[in-house]
Amino acid sequence: MKKLFALILAILMVASLAACSGDTETETADTNDTTAEELIMGTNAYFPPYEYYDADGTTIVGIDAEIAQAVADKLGMKLTIKDMDFDSLLTAVQTGSVDIVFAGLTVTEERQQAVDFTVTYATGIQVIIVPNDSDIASVDDLAGKTIGVQAGTTGDIYCTGDYGQDSVKQFQNGALAVAALQNGQVDCVVIDNEPAKSFVEANEGLKILDTEYITEDYAAAISKDNADLTTKVNNAMEELKADGTIDAIIAKYIKAE
Ligand code: ARG
Repeated sequence: MKKLFALILAILMVASLAACSGDTETETADTNDTTAEELIMGTNAYFPPYEYYDADGTTIVGIDAEIAQAVADKLGMKLTIKDMDFDSLLTAVQTGSVDIVFAGLTVTEERQQAVDFTVTYATGIQVIIVPNDSDIASVDDLAGKTIGVQAGTTGDIYCTGDYGQDSVKQFQNGALAVAALQNGQVDCVVIDNEPAKSFVEANEGLKILDTEYITEDYAAAISKDNADLTTKVNNAMEELKADGTIDAIIAKYIKAE
């Protein structure tokens, strides 16, 4: 019995070495090692399938959490995830209270003034959620409506720019914006397409309009003072893209239609 166990263990070890295709850091990295350097990720965990609390309500899971874990593993670092308001994430990375932001975060020129972005890993589309019986049928019908958004997101920035502050109601997260839509406090919600799908699935009587407001790229953000970490994370992410890890993580959470 002991021999069999040893044999299985040996096979598993060889298999895992093979899977790591030459990256020696990965094998030596021990994420339970308390001396391992910490990688603190900031996010706002109400953004499924990118980040959300799993059924037990304590663990943050999702595409970003898994990509960050894979990056940390490659760098031999121990990942810690901090949940905070979306609109405080960039300040948190600038001031060093977190090392990296993974939050379905859209690359914009304005944000690039404040932080450095890693390579991109996903595409987001700003879409419009409305009640099934809404008279809003396309982007052209948004004028004069009350639009719910998550504060500080690109949905917020674009809608405020296009329709004015008075037309836009900010919420601390997407779930609260969708709840306000259910209550009739807002006429629609503008938010990224994948969270939109999750929210519509979880709430009766809502639909996503078949028109795209804007398409954008997601990347992680790191302080401009931490160029060394940006280089390391970019190298890790390029490897994880090349070996299919990132695609596999995304496919696990987003089923092809
Ligand atoms: N992609 C949008 C942005 O960057 C929304 C991201 C919201 N993310 C979150 N984890 N709540 O502004």
